[in-house]
Amino acid sequence: KTRIGVLTSGGDCPGLNAVIRGVCRAADKLDWEVIGFRDGYEGLLPPGDYFTLDRRNTSGIMHLGGTILGTTNRGHFVAKVGAGDKAAIPQDIIDQAKQTFHNLGLTALVCIGGDGSLSTALQLFENGIPVIGVPKTIDNDLEATAMTFGFDSAVACVADALDRLHTTATSHKRVMVLEVMGRNAGWIALHGGLAGGADVILIPEIPFSVEKVAEEVLRREKEGAKSTMIVVAEGAAPDGKPLRHAVASGEHRLGGVGDIVGKEIADRTDKEVRTCILGHLQRGGAPTTLDRILGTRFGVKAVQLIEEKKFGTMVSYQNYLTLDVPISHAVHKLRRVTEDSQLVSAARAVGISFGD
Ligand code: F6P
Repeated sequence: KTRIGVLTSGGDCPGLNAVIRGVCRAADKLDWEVIGFRDGYEGLLPPGDYFTLDRRNTSGIMHLGGTILGTTNRGHFVAKVGAGDKAAIPQDIIDQAKQTFHNLGLTALVCIGGDGSLSTALQLFENGIPVIGVPKTIDNDLEATAMTFGFDSAVACVADALDRLHTTATSHKRVMVLEVMGRNAGWIALHGGLAGGADVILIPEIPFSVEKVAEEVLRREKEGAKSTMIVVAEGAAPDGKPLRHAVASGEHRLGGVGDIVGKEIADRTDKEVRTCILGHLQRGGAPTTLDRILGTRFGVKAVQLIEEKKFGTMVSYQNYLTLDVPISHAVHKLRRVTEDSQLVSAARAVGISFGD
């Protein structure tokens, strides 16, 4: 009987369980067995931390956030800079993973993860493990796929937060600053800000000055606006000064760019300003219907790629189709917002300021 493995690695993301369920259901149709590894690649370390996934234990999980397999962005599979200048996972760790893979008689390993986890998948593939990658990130910043599951859920969370903040902001005639995730890209801020009716959106890709933002707040007040809603991406750089700590993964953060923007606006306008850092609320909870569908399709496609023996490839979404691209072409290629894009133009057309 064909046996395949599946794992989720890196930061969690709404829709992961839909992918796992999709893999299981599609594999079940082919009468394959599915082994789920716990806590990302760590589950591959001997003796192996895994359990059999079947229709029963993957039933009723699609609408749940997080991952039933557990995940980590730490541990033994974090690439280290070795003798050469290229960061890589130590060879003995790779060899141990290979051992578990072979001991279990697996045909392929489905690795669901973001850029870092896909680099690990690539290294495993280069070492003889037949892998299939499934891209995952709420940030939606991978060049090789037009969309990743989890993004729509994060955007919905931002829009919901703006709706809520709006009523309290107008009641008090305040300025609200909402800091959102996205690492070094402004996609969540841009989409969430548009959907939630933000007045100002500050993103890493468009240089802005806090002075201009303050002017916009005062201009709006003069026009009779009762509030100003500002969305700021965590990777945004006020006056060209990026806050590195705001985008570092795995570290505890004490206030980020939202606090800085909020304080600068308060100092310059004499308005009451409040800041809200949305944080991991954007990563938790139920996936939207779009992410459930996208996750399911990605899982089904991964099984199809195993059937076709297209190892070393990653599922990609382009023009409403699930396709495949070599993982080697996909890693370390990040997509960022472009200033001359239709989306930015549309935002400007409805009166959104980028503080530039
Ligand atoms: O890449 C996803 C993401 O949620 C980013 O938007 C954010 O910067 C980062 O991960 C947070 O990572 P952690 O959960 O390790 O704090």
